[in-house]
Amino acid sequence: MIGRKISHFTILKKLGSGGMGDVFLARDESLRRKVAIKFLPRIGVGPKAAERFQREAHALAALNHPNIVSLYALEEVDGTRFLVMEWVRGKPLTDLIGSSTGLPLDTFYPLAVQIAGALAETHERGFVHRDLKPANVMVTPRGKAKILDFGLVKYREEIEDKLTESGRIVGSMPYMSPEQLTGEEVGPPSDVFNLGLLFFEVLSGLRPFRGRRWGMAQAILEDVPLVLTDLRDDISSELDGLVQACLAKEPADRPTAAKLLPKLERLAQAHPYQRFGRIGQQLCSWICGFRNRKVEVRAVEPSSTSSFRPSHA
Ligand SMILES: Nc1ncnc2c1ncn2[C@@H]1O[C@H](COP(=O)(O)OP(=O)(O)O)[C@@H](O)[C@H]1O
Ligand SMILES: [Mg+2]
Repeated sequence: MIGRKISHFTILKKLGSGGMGDVFLARDESLRRKVAIKFLPRIGVGPKAAERFQREAHALAALNHPNIVSLYALEEVDGTRFLVMEWVRGKPLTDLIGSSTGLPLDTFYPLAVQIAGALAETHERGFVHRDLKPANVMVTPRGKAKILDFGLVKYREEIEDKLTESGRIVGSMPYMSPEQLTGEEVGPPSDVFNLGLLFFEVLSGLRPFRGRRWGMAQAILEDVPLVLTDLRDDISSELDGLVQACLAKEPADRPTAAKLLPKLERLAQAHPYQRFGRIGQQLCSWICGFRNRKVEVRAVEPSSTSSFRPSHA
């Protein structure tokens, strides 16, 4: 594949792969810029996968936000369909979390505000992402976050059409909401639950619900999540409260992304890093670095980070 030319694109290297297909870095020879190309595999995909691919393109085309990857084109060459997207020069959030016991708050807050803003925009435009997780958020070296992978996106009218929705399990374990797991109606609150899971992991390196596979599913459905203030001394009860609210079992009890955003912004503003300037920031991260050592056990098993996607169809 590397070095191959498709239309006016030269494939340079593989950027990643997921449940749907491979994503490559390519050079657009006509506009002389690098782009990311996501292919719909030609073999082994049914009409449903093709439909999802089309949906992803439509959603990305409708969404215009600095923290959502931009779509340039949906192309078809000799029966091969592909999305041409902005190339995000960065790493998936999964890499940033790595084996950490939680990112420092001065890294967390700007990322959280950007991701919540992108989610608020997605919902405002009538879409539900349904697959928000660290692997689907890219972070650039300058700290810019971009949500990608709208392969499981759903539009408002489809949500209202419960006949086509009921009984389906759509999402990626372990980043699933109770309603995703039980195959009930999945609307914007489900994305907010996924956001709560993501925030928890970014802040602690842990998952708020314990267990593996169906044990984890059961925990999501029944257990009370872990508490961030028990894991880190520098996390305020307000921030913990916001994350806990996102993780409410009942979709109606969760805040909307639009309501969450200004609350996160207020907490970010009040954060001492913002107030004490650069020297203060360094001092705080030094102190917090020591405090965070109380979190020694990392419960996220590397094997469980590989997601499975039960019957998207
Ligand atoms: N626009 C992009 N820029 C840079 N890397 C990307 C881009 N799109 C996808 N990737 C990389 O490819 C991986 C798989 O892409 P994704 O859209 O999530 O596909 P899948 O539906 O197969 O999971 C991502 O996790 C990311 O590492
Ligand atoms: Mg993905």
